[in-house]
Amino acid sequence: MIASTITTLETRRLMLRPLTLDDAPAIQATFPQWEIVRFLAGHVPWPYPHDGAESFLRDVALPGMARGEEWHWSLRPKSEPERLIGVISLMARENNNRGFWIAPDWQGQGLMSEAAAAVTDFWFDVLGRDVLRAPKAVENIASRRISERSGMRMIGTHIHSFVSGEHPAEMWEITAAEWRAQRGTR
Ligand SMILES: CC(C)(COP(=O)(O)OP(=O)(O)OC[C@H]1O[C@@H](n2cnc3c(N)ncnc32)[C@H](O)[C@@H]1OP(=O)(O)O)[C@@H](O)C(=O)NCCC(=O)NCCS
Repeated sequence: MIASTITTLETRRLMLRPLTLDDAPAIQATFPQWEIVRFLAGHVPWPYPHDGAESFLRDVALPGMARGEEWHWSLRPKSEPERLIGVISLMARENNNRGFWIAPDWQGQGLMSEAAAAVTDFWFDVLGRDVLRAPKAVENIASRRISERSGMRMIGTHIHSFVSGEHPAEMWEITAAEWRAQRGTR
């Protein structure tokens, strides 16, 4: 596959801007909160180091984007575009293609549902992928709701390592055809 260039995306209320090294201070100031990290993958370092955001960007996210294997965006309210309130990512990895977090003050307003729809369009329409899969903790109700409401199917359960330890997890999946069919209805 030809690596597609990441572009800025727009939803009704958000700008999704490709991550850069300049985002390190805002991520460092917002991300290290237990409420955000507890159901993220166990490889996220915790306690979060003082240079955690910078090393994530420099060593993981930006090289992954340069290789055309990862696509990461900051979430910014259109009303306040200089403010980073979360991150959403796509990864060309087996069984783990999308991840996201949003600051607690901004949760519960449907914002991640908007962002997830925009990057899922990018996954299928721009990157031309056939299927999107995402594991999530059974206890992570908000994340599961995003999957349920966007027409994803739960295809299996397993034990997964999260920052908060090993927990039952579900694998959620949607194909390009299923995504396009349900997108026509929203
Ligand atoms: C998961 C997360 C990104 C959801 O973001 P959000 O912007 O609050 O999501 P939305 O507002 O679009 O809500 C999605 C659904 O979850 C529900 N929801 C949101 N917060 C909830 C909570 N704390 N408890 C239960 N349900 C919740 C919403 O009501 C909505 O359901 P609905 O569609 O039936 O109305 C956010 O909670 C988060 O950043 N969590 C920490 C990081 C994380 O766990 N990421 C996912 C890893 S798989």
